[in-house]
Amino acid sequence: MYIVYFSPTGGTRKAAEIIGKEIDSDATVVDITPYSQRDKRYELNSDDALLVAVPVYGGRVPAIAIERLKCITGHETPAILVVVYGNRDYDDALLELKSAMESNGFQVIAGIACIAEHSIMRVYAQGRPDDTDQIVLKHFAERIKSKLENPKKGETTEEIQIKGNSPYKIYNGVPIKPRANRKCTQCGICAELCPVNAIPRENPRETDLEKCISCMRCIAVCPQKARSVNPLKLFMSIRAFRKKCKDEKEPELFI
Ligand SMILES: Cc1cc2nc3c(=O)[nH]c(=O)nc-3n(C[C@H](O)[C@H](O)[C@H](O)COP(=O)(O)O)c2cc1C
Ligand code: SF4
Ligand code: SF4
Repeated sequence: MYIVYFSPTGGTRKAAEIIGKEIDSDATVVDITPYSQRDKRYELNSDDALLVAVPVYGGRVPAIAIERLKCITGHETPAILVVVYGNRDYDDALLELKSAMESNGFQVIAGIACIAEHSIMRVYAQGRPDDTDQIVLKHFAERIKSKLENPKKGETTEEIQIKGNSPYKIYNGVPIKPRANRKCTQCGICAELCPVNAIPRENPRETDLEKCISCMRCIAVCPQKARSVNPLKLFMSIRAFRKKCKDEKEPELFI
């Protein structure tokens, strides 16, 4: 099995590995987050299996993840989909991922929506996936594994029903973009790791606001803690989302 993820701040990776390693502890792990992954191609056969995991941005799959996933093609290869969200909602993301992977030649056999710490408003879903999530996700993985190994008659050809609507929710990005302060030593780590090349290597204190997808990876990787977002904008967002994010959501399995 292949475990493929797009995970700027690590929450999606964590969920993908909990589920994927429970299904196949020897699975090959492919991280499609780095900009350097944009031209890599992977072709899977019908006797392979794929677990693909992406975060949810504005109720959708990040457009850059859809773009990168086009490089992974299958030949009726069974696929397990995972969308990871920050305790607001995943809206149409799982449905969008299903459609994208089917277009790439995969046969979707299961979908999971689960929760990880909100990468912008980190007060929401702090510490998730936690121990309870792990138990639930491992149980989901066991059910998926048995479907992969012993498909009941007709089960592999039967289309699974997934929550979400089409046309998908419109997502226009979020107006919260990190900036560097004077603590920046120009080490270049953030420029190297930005998934969309929005930080110039020659001047990593700058951010190309047109390219930036607000993924918060540069904040997470900066050893000097020199990058941050506007605290007032962050405070206002946390307040605006309190009602939608405060109640703990639970992982869901579609099989
Ligand atoms: C730009 C952006 C938009 C987001 N939109 C949503 C959303 O619509 N619903 C939600 O519950 N969480 C949302 N989140 C939170 C992420 O889905 C969540 O934190 C996820 O775990 C991030 O994955 P990562 O840790 O792999 O980067 C958003 C995060 C970012 C950066
Ligand atoms: S990782 Fe931090 S210190 Fe290094 S260049 Fe980026 S902002 Fe500056
Ligand atoms: S500059 Fe924008 S896109 Fe690049 S890592 Fe930072 S938040 Fe993500």
